Amino acid sequence: MEIIICQNEDHVGAVGAAKVAQIARRVGPGVVIGVATGGSPLSLYAHLASRVEAGTLDLSEASAFALDEYVGLPIEHPESYYSVIDRTVTKPLHLDPARVHVPNGSLEGLETAGQRYDAAIVAAGGVDVQILGIGANGHIGFNEPTSSLHSRTRVKTLTPQTRADNTRFFDSEDDVPRHCITQGIGTIMEARALVLVANGAHKADAIAAMVEGPVTSWCPASVLQMHPRATVIIDEAAAGRLQLADYYKQTYENLPEWQRLDVR
Ligand code: GLP
Repeated sequence: MEIIICQNEDHVGAVGAAKVAQIARRVGPGVVIGVATGGSPLSLYAHLASRVEAGTLDLSEASAFALDEYVGLPIEHPESYYSVIDRTVTKPLHLDPARVHVPNGSLEGLETAGQRYDAAIVAAGGVDVQILGIGANGHIGFNEPTSSLHSRTRVKTLTPQTRADNTRFFDSEDDVPRHCITQGIGTIMEARALVLVANGAHKADAIAAMVEGPVTSWCPASVLQMHPRATVIIDEAAAGRLQLADYYKQTYENLPEWQRLDVR
């Protein structure tokens, strides 16, 4: 696992965008990007959008697959992940909406929606780079603690903590859906590269458990230890509980030229 500790949230976004852009350049125009909702990747998307505006990155032929969606929330709702991805990813990155996929959280066909979503990812050739945030309880996508590390895209029940964390996007906690459909941990692990971004002291325990704790479904993100190309990009506050923080900093500062990122 590569750990990059940045001065602040904006720098996290700049480094994350550099990593995603590097992979997109290597893969070519048809790159398949896995995208996450939540506050954490917004700065990364903003930095990618600057590259697109500057003409140094063209994602017009790229495909995108979102991690998750609420169950039973109409897609027109401003907080459906369909709407959030459209607002924060598809439009600013000038993606072709026909190639942007979000799991279908409508009640109709829900039983098979997960299987169909996994099949669509395979049909697109698999995800080249998956962008991830992390929940305060260590979840990735909406894979809550004790999710199977081999799980596939499926319906899950949100924990009280996640519903409380996400109340800020709704009028009240009662309005936060209780169920979601999320890429499974096994699905996420099939992406050829993972880029996880996080900011703030409230993520420090989850980051320490993910990076330096045991691999356990109690902290779903700890499965990243098993991925051959996982990069974790965090600010100083989110790195606050890491025992080897100085080692990770020295490693990044002394990378050989060929491993360095073109951070803008
Ligand atoms: C949500 C999303 C996750 C996201 C997490 C953290 O529950 N399903 O994909 O990583 O929240 O969100 P934030 O980045 O806003 O802290």
